[in-house]
Amino acid sequence: MIRGVIEGTGSYLPEYRLTNDQLEKLVDTSDEWITARTGIGCRRVAGPGEETSKIAAEAARRAMAMAGVEAEEIATIIVGTITSEMTMPSCACLVQKEIGAINAYAFDISAACTGFIYGLELADKMIKAYPDRKILVIGAENLSARVDWQDRNTCVLFGDGAGAAVIGADDSGRGILATKLFSDGRLGDLLYMNAAPSLNPYIGSPYNKRKSAKTEVFDPARLGSPRDDEGSYIKMAGREVFKNAVLAMEDSIDKVLEEAGLSGPEIDWILPHQANIRILHNLGERLGVPKEKIFINIHKYGNTSAATVPIAFDEANRQGLLKRGDLVLTCAFGGGFTWGAEIIRW
Ligand SMILES: CC(C)(COP(=O)(O)OP(=O)(O)OC[C@H]1O[C@@H](n2cnc3c(N)ncnc32)[C@H](O)[C@@H]1OP(=O)(O)O)[C@@H](O)C(=O)NCCC(=O)NCCS
Repeated sequence: MIRGVIEGTGSYLPEYRLTNDQLEKLVDTSDEWITARTGIGCRRVAGPGEETSKIAAEAARRAMAMAGVEAEEIATIIVGTITSEMTMPSCACLVQKEIGAINAYAFDISAACTGFIYGLELADKMIKAYPDRKILVIGAENLSARVDWQDRNTCVLFGDGAGAAVIGADDSGRGILATKLFSDGRLGDLLYMNAAPSLNPYIGSPYNKRKSAKTEVFDPARLGSPRDDEGSYIKMAGREVFKNAVLAMEDSIDKVLEEAGLSGPEIDWILPHQANIRILHNLGERLGVPKEKIFINIHKYGNTSAATVPIAFDEANRQGLLKRGDLVLTCAFGGGFTWGAEIIRW
């Protein structure tokens, strides 16, 4: 059977590191609380030249280099994002221009933290129909632009970053074995963000001339400044989201394992969405997968929404952890709600 297979991975993390100690100066929090309750020690904040499409394009270039694929060979670009710097063109079209993928058609997916996994499922179906194609699936976010830096319930959690994968065809048994995707719009008000441009208002940008007057360089001291667009911050009922995330991800994992005819202990690696270390440890325990087999980088980057899964894929891949034939499980949960799980034979 022909399946979509990951031929190359790439990621890009903005240079600027915002530590828990720095956040202590912005809001009433502590390194101890953030580390114990979330597992996050640091997160990246995008600066000038690191708009969502730019970091997405850099992740894509790295994935294409690993896959040995030229930009002209890319047939489709799919970007999972909720924080593109523009509403139109799509982030995917901005990436297309940036990397010179002149033969591709390009579009975004809005599925919050599950965006990359939604994209992989689409790519797999496209590859089954057109096995000669190469597809770029990307998850990229600039969440620092949409966080209320005066709200300790949310501002400590999120970060910026991008990850990408080149998908091609394989008929040797490798690739995407099973996917289960879900959403439930009835619970949307537990985690949401009103529509607004996603340029970081604290930095200058060629797209945002009005706000660029504030400052031309990223200045962390400005993160605590009041903003005039109250409605566009990320709003989250953390405890409720936590409970729903645990139950939904467990359920989707049970269903995807059943579809693939596998059991938890057969899984070699879990590369999950990184939202809270306690959720990740809980998943491992429930599946009977030891902690060492759950890839964790939340301490470095926080929750980068659609980007966490492809960044995890890329880091695990480049560290040589994933061996050919390994069974890899990924899962995510995010605003919408959206969630899902997927099993890949590496
Ligand atoms: C946000 C989250 C870390 C909060 O952890 P929690 O253990 O649930 O904490 P609670 O919300 O119960 O809050 C406990 C207390 O800590 C306080 N608190 C919240 N953020 C804090 C911070 N940054 N520093 C210090 N105290 C904080 C709360 O105000 C609350 O105080 P109170 O008891 O006096 O009201 C956690 O709920 C979470 O990870 N949620 C879901 C994330 C997720 O799955 N996202 C997936 C989709 S993106």
